[in-house]
Amino acid sequence: MLVGVPKEIKNHEYRVGLTPAAVKEFAAHGHNIVVETQAGAAIGFSDEDYIAAGATIASTAQQVFAEAEMIVKVKEPQPNECKMLRKGQTLYTYLHLAPDPVQTELLIASGATCIAYETVTDNRNGLPLLAPMSEVAGRMSVQAGAHYLEKANGGSGTLLGGVPGVAPGKVLVIGGGVVGTNAAKMALGLGADVTILDRSLPRLRQLDDIFNGQVKTVFSTVDAIEQYSAEADLVVGAVLIPGATAPKLLNKAHIKAMKPGAVVVDVAIDQGGCFETSKATTHQDPVYVVDDVVHYCVANMPGGVARTSTMALNNATLPFGLALANKGAKQAMLDDKHLLNGLNVHEGKVTYKAVVDALGESLGLTYTPAEEALK
Ligand SMILES: NC(=O)c1ccc[n+]([C@@H]2O[C@H](COP(=O)([O-])OP(=O)(O)OC[C@H]3O[C@@H](n4cnc5c(N)ncnc54)[C@H](O)[C@@H]3O)[C@@H](O)[C@H]2O)c1
Repeated sequence: MLVGVPKEIKNHEYRVGLTPAAVKEFAAHGHNIVVETQAGAAIGFSDEDYIAAGATIASTAQQVFAEAEMIVKVKEPQPNECKMLRKGQTLYTYLHLAPDPVQTELLIASGATCIAYETVTDNRNGLPLLAPMSEVAGRMSVQAGAHYLEKANGGSGTLLGGVPGVAPGKVLVIGGGVVGTNAAKMALGLGADVTILDRSLPRLRQLDDIFNGQVKTVFSTVDAIEQYSAEADLVVGAVLIPGATAPKLLNKAHIKAMKPGAVVVDVAIDQGGCFETSKATTHQDPVYVVDDVVHYCVANMPGGVARTSTMALNNATLPFGLALANKGAKQAMLDDKHLLNGLNVHEGKVTYKAVVDALGESLGLTYTPAEEALK
C-alpha cells in the first residue's frame, strides 16, 4: 500500500503521523511511504531521516493526498485537507467528530474511509490510542505545577520535594485513571506528599497496590475534596465520566479557601474542566490567577512535548496502521472488532453512533453500523 504522511497544518501542531522509525516498519512490510517535506522537522525528524527510513519526500500536501491510498495524520483534517480526500482512500487520525459538524459533512462528502484514533478500543474496555496522550498529560501536569509553584512564576515558592528538615509540598490528584496515575508517579518521584481521590473503590485498591502504600488513596466525596484541596500546594484535576462533560468538583469557594500561591492544573479541561473557575488556555498563554490560585488549563497539553507525544502515539497507532496497510482497510477492520470501532465514516455513511446522536438531527444523518457499511 502507498501510505501518505502530510505535514500537520493546525496552529502550533508540531506532531507528525509517522516517525522515521514507524516509516521503517511500514517499509519492512513492503509498503511505500510518501512524506510531505518538513513534516517532522519541528521535532527533529528531518527529510533525510525519512529518506533513510525508506520514504520518498513530496514537495506538497496535494501530492501526498493525490498519491496515497492511506493518509496517516495526528489532528483532525482541516477543511482544505478534507477536500483532498477521495472514495477508496483511508484516513487514519484523531477526528473528534461529535462537536464538529463542518468536518463531519466534509468527510461524508469525500467518500473516504475515516478511522478515528479516539474510538479504537481494546479488550480491557480502554481506548488504546487515547491512553498515550493521557500518560503524557498526567506526567506533564506535575512538571507544569512544579514550575508555576516557583515564586517568579506566580506561585507560593514551594519546592514539591522539600529538603531535609523541610516538609515536602502536598499534591492532590482528583481522579486516579491514566492521567491521575501518571501525575501521582511524577509527584512521588519528586518527593511530594501525594493523595489521590477517586470514586471507584476497585480503582483505589489498584492504586494502593501500584504505589505500595506510598500515596494516600481517599474515596472522593465533597468533604474529602474540601479538606484536601484546602491543604494542597498543587491540585491536578484528572476525572473523566465517559461521554459526559467533566463534573465541577472544585467550586469557587474551594478555590478561595486554598493557600495563596497554590497551583491547580485542570487536565480535564478538554471535557469542560473539573474546577468551576477553569477556562481553557493555550501553550502560548497557559496560566491565569483566580483568588491568588494559579490556574493552568491547557486543553492540548501533549502538544507542548510534541516529540515525546509523537513517539508515544506512534507506539500505539503502529500495530493498527500496519494491519490496515497489510490487509487493506476493509479486511483489517472485519478481522478486528476493536479497529472496526474506530470507523466513523465510510463512503458517505456515518458508522459511529455517538456522532449521529450528537449531529443527526441538525445534519439529517442516519446511523449505519460499521459492519453493514463495509459490506
Ligand atoms: N488537557 C489535555 O491535554 C488532556 C490530555 C489527555 C487527557 N485529558 C483528559 O484528562 C481526563 C482524564 O483522562 P484519563 O485518561 O485519565 O481518564 P480515565 O478514565 O483513565 O480516568 C478517569 C478517572 O476519574 C475517576 N472519577 C470519575 N468521577 C470522579 C469523581 N467525582 N471524583 C474522583 N474521581 C472520579 C474515574 O473513576 C477514573 O478513575 C479526561 O477528561 C481526558 O479527556 C486531557
